[in-house]
Amino acid sequence: MASTLKHHVSRRLLELFVQGRPSTSDVVKLASKVNLRKSADFKIGLSVPTDSLSACSNNFNLENVQNSLKADNIVNSVSVIKHQGKTDIFFHLHHENFVREILENNAAKKPLPSRGKRVIVEFSSPNIAKPIHMGHLRSTIIGNFIANLHEWFGYEVLRFNYLGDWGTQFGLVKVGMKILNPSQEELSQKPLSTLYQAYITANAAAEKDPALLDDARKIFMNLECGKQDDISDWKLYKEYTIAELMKTYSRLGIVFDKYSWESDYKADSIVHILKLLDSSGLMATDKEGRSIVNVAGKEVPVLKSDGSTLYLTRDIAAAIDRQEKYRFDMMYYLADTSQHRHFINLFHILKDLNLPWSENLKHIRFGRVRGMSTRQGQVVFLNDILNEAHQLMIKQQKESPNTKVDLLEDLTTADILGVSAIVAADLIHKRQKDYTFNWESARSITGNTGVRLQYTHCRLKSLHENSPLASAHICEPLLLSETAAVNLVFEISRFEEVLERSFDELEASKLSEYLFTLCDAINKAMIALHVSNAGKVGEQRLRLFEEARIVLHRGMTLLGLSPLNRM
Ligand code: ARG
Repeated sequence: MASTLKHHVSRRLLELFVQGRPSTSDVVKLASKVNLRKSADFKIGLSVPTDSLSACSNNFNLENVQNSLKADNIVNSVSVIKHQGKTDIFFHLHHENFVREILENNAAKKPLPSRGKRVIVEFSSPNIAKPIHMGHLRSTIIGNFIANLHEWFGYEVLRFNYLGDWGTQFGLVKVGMKILNPSQEELSQKPLSTLYQAYITANAAAEKDPALLDDARKIFMNLECGKQDDISDWKLYKEYTIAELMKTYSRLGIVFDKYSWESDYKADSIVHILKLLDSSGLMATDKEGRSIVNVAGKEVPVLKSDGSTLYLTRDIAAAIDRQEKYRFDMMYYLADTSQHRHFINLFHILKDLNLPWSENLKHIRFGRVRGMSTRQGQVVFLNDILNEAHQLMIKQQKESPNTKVDLLEDLTTADILGVSAIVAADLIHKRQKDYTFNWESARSITGNTGVRLQYTHCRLKSLHENSPLASAHICEPLLLSETAAVNLVFEISRFEEVLERSFDELEASKLSEYLFTLCDAINKAMIALHVSNAGKVGEQRLRLFEEARIVLHRGMTLLGLSPLNRM
C-alpha cells in the first residue's frame, strides 16, 4: 500500500493512463498538474485540465480507475465532475484504512533505502583571516539541510568544508599582526576576531603607506616558496582558527567529513592540472603575462603573471581531485548568488576539459541576509551571533518564567533554543531570496519560529510522559473521527510528499512551512482531543499525537534542529 495519499492516487492513476498508452510526455504533463485537495469528509480531489486528460488517454475509463483503486482498499469510490475545461476527480477514501495506513506506516520513521550513489555537499567554507560573514552562516545552515535531506533519500553524503587559507590576504594579516602585536593568549582565545583586526589594521595602514602592500605581497610569495618563518605563522593562524570554528560547528550540531583547504591546490601541488589545461589547448597568455582560459568567448585568468594560482584555478584542481578520490555522482557547492558567475566558469572549463562528470556539479545559490548584528555592532562572527541568541533566550525566560528548565543553569538548552531560532528564521525563507533578520520575531514563541517548533515538540513529549495511559499499539481509526483528529492525520500524510518537493527544488522552506502547518494542526488537536480520562479513546489519541511528534521530530532534525524534550 502506498505511504502517502497523493503518491498512491497519482501513481495508480498514471498506471491506468499508461495502460491506455498515452505518450510519456503526456503522462509527465499530467503528473505535473496533479494537485490534490483534501476535505475532512475523507474526500480528496484532483483537478486536471480536461484537454490534458483526453490527450493522455482516449479511453479514460472511470470504472477501470474505480476498480483498480478499490483493490488497494484506500479509496471507496471515485466520482468525476467536468466544468469549464477542467475535470475534477474525487476520491472518496475509506476512512479506517486511510487512517490506519498513515499512522501504522508513518513515513517519518523510514529513511529511503540506499541508492548506491555518493554526493559531496561542500558548504560553510569560510576564509581564514577574513570575517566569517552571514553568507557563511547561510551556507552552513542550508548546506547542512541539503546534506541531511540527501541522507534521508538514501544517498551516501560527504560533507566538505573548503576553507579559504591562501592568497595575498595572508600577507596583510601578518603585516597587521606585526603592528598590533597581540598576545599569544589573545590569539588563541579569539583567533577569528584577532586575525580580522590585524587584517583591518593592515589595510588601514597600507592606505597611508603603500609600501606595506609590497611587504604583504612579499610575505605571500614567501609562503608560496615555502619560507619557514612565514609558513609556521600561517600554520599557527590556521590551527587556532579551525579550533574556534570547530566549537561553533559543534554548537550548531554540524560535523564535517572532510576539511579541505585552498592551499592544498597551490601552484606546485597542481602542476599536472596546469599541464592538462595547457595540453588541452584551452590556455593562452595575455598581454600582461597572465595565463587565461577562454570561457564562452570571455578571457578568464587562471594564473597570475608570477605563476601563482587564483580562486578559480584552485577550484578546478579541487573538483578534479575530489572526483579522482571520491568518485562522487553529484557535487553541490553552497555559496551566495554573487559567486554564480565563478561557478558557471568553473563548470564550463571542466566541461571543455571533456570531463563528463562536470554535468553533475551544481551551485546551490542563496540570497543575502540583512539586519543580523549583535549589540556590539555590525561586524559579526558566527559565534557572537550564537552567543547573542543564547542570551536572548535567557532574557526571554526571565520575562515569562513559566518554563520547566532554568536556562541560566541549563546552558545547553539555552544554546539549542538560540540555534533553533536562527536556523528556522533562515530556512523559512525561499533560498534565493534576500531577507531581513529580526531578533524579536526570531526568538518569539508564537509565529513561524524555531522556538515554536521546540515548544510544540516539548508539549507532545510531556503529554506522553505525564499521561497515565499508554499509547495504543493497534490503531482503531473509528475512535479518531473528530475533525481535529482527521485533519492531523491528513497533515501527517503530507510529510513524504513535502519532503519530495523540498528535495526536487532543494528548498528547505517547503519543509519549514509544512512543519508550521503541522504545529497548527497539533495545537488544534491538543485543544479538542483530551487524553486524560478518555480511556480507550485516550489511548488512540495518544497514539495519534505520538505519530505527529515523530513527524515533527524528523522534520526538525532534517532542518538541522535538535528537538528538545523539555524547555
Ligand atoms: N571561501 C569562499 C568564500 O568565502 C567560499 C568557497 C565556496 N566554494 C568553492 N569551492 N569555491 O567566498
